[in-house]
Amino acid sequence: MKDKQIIFSGMRPTGRMHIGHYFGALKNWVELQENYKCIFGITDWHALTTSFEDTASLENNIIEMAADWLAVGINPEKSILILQSWVPEHAELHLLFSMITPVGWLERNPVLKEQLQDMGLKEAVGYGHLGYPVLMASDILIYKAVKVPVGEDQVPHIEITREIARRFNYLYGEVFPEPQALLTEAPRILGIDGKKMSKSLNNYIGLSESPEEVRKKIRSMFTDPEKIRLSDAGHPERCNVFSLHRLLVNPRLGEIEKECREGKWGCVSCKEELSELMVKFLEKVVPHREKYQREKHLVKEILWEGSKKARQIAQATLEEAKEAMKLSYDF
Ligand code: TYM
Repeated sequence: MKDKQIIFSGMRPTGRMHIGHYFGALKNWVELQENYKCIFGITDWHALTTSFEDTASLENNIIEMAADWLAVGINPEKSILILQSWVPEHAELHLLFSMITPVGWLERNPVLKEQLQDMGLKEAVGYGHLGYPVLMASDILIYKAVKVPVGEDQVPHIEITREIARRFNYLYGEVFPEPQALLTEAPRILGIDGKKMSKSLNNYIGLSESPEEVRKKIRSMFTDPEKIRLSDAGHPERCNVFSLHRLLVNPRLGEIEKECREGKWGCVSCKEELSELMVKFLEKVVPHREKYQREKHLVKEILWEGSKKARQIAQATLEEAKEAMKLSYDF
C-alpha cells in the first residue's frame, strides 16, 4: 500500500444515495481501491453548508451512506473510510487555506452560482457555504491526494483546490501536489426530468428504491420531444431513457437504437424494458445493505478506526504545512 498513489473523495450525507452518485463516482471508487491507496470521506461539515437548520437526520444519514458504500463493495481492508468531523485536522488546514484564498475565486465559483439559483438563496449565502471549496481543498490536500474521483459537477471545485495548492506552494514552498479530477464514462447522470440528477431536485432514482417506485418514476421520464407517436423517427442521442439503457448495458442496445430511429419501437415499451433492467440492477448493486444497517455499531467502528488511521497522515501534513508557514514555533 505504501507506494501507491493517494486518492481522496467524499460525499455529503444528505440521505439515501441515488444512481447519479453510483455511476458518477461510487462505481469508480470500488474499482480504484485495487490500485490506489484510497481514502473516502463522509463529509458531514459540507452537509451543514446548505442544511444547517436540519441536523436531526444527519446521524442517521451518515450510517445509511456508510452502509451503502460497504454494500456496493467499498472495502475497509483496502481503503480508509473516514467521517470528516472525526478528523479535525481538516478544519485547521481549512483555516490556514482560508487566509490565502481570495474571496473572488469563491464568488466566481460556478457551482455556488448554480446552487444559489436552485435554492433561491441569492443574497443569503453563508460564510461556510462560500468557503465550501476551501474545505474541500483541505479534505483532499491534507492527504496529499493526487487524484479525486468525482462526477462532473465537482470539477470546478477541484480546480480551486489546484489553485489553492499552487498559491500555498508559491508562498511557502512546495508542500502540496496539484490533484486531478478522475471522471467516469458517465460523469453527469440526468434525472427523470432531464436536469442533473440530484436529491434537492427530487428527480432521482434511489439505490434503495422499491420496484413499484422505479416503474412509476421511469414511466414519468421525459423522452425525445420529437417522438410523439410510435411511428415517429426517434433520436436516441437526445433521449435520457436511452442513455440509461446504455448505462445499464442493455444487451439489446443496438436493436433499440435502430428500431427507435426507424419508428418501429415506442417510448412506452422502451421505458418498460428500462424499468425491468433497473429493478434487476438495483437488486444486485446493494446486496448486503440490510446487514450493515442492522449492525450500526460495525459501521461506526469502521468509520472510527478509519478516521484514527487518517489522522496520522493528516497530522503529519498539517505539521509540514505549519512548518512551511513558519508557524511551528519553537519558544
Ligand atoms: P455530493 O455529495 O453532491 O455527490 C457525491 C458524488 O456523486 C457525484 N454525483 C453525480 N455524478 C454524476 N451525475 C450526477 N447526477 C451526480 N450527482 C452526484 C458527485 O459529483 C460526487 O462525486 N463536494 C462533494 C463532497 C466532497 C468532496 C470532498 C468530494 C467534500 N469534500 C473532497 C471530493 C473531494 C459533494 O457535495 O458531492
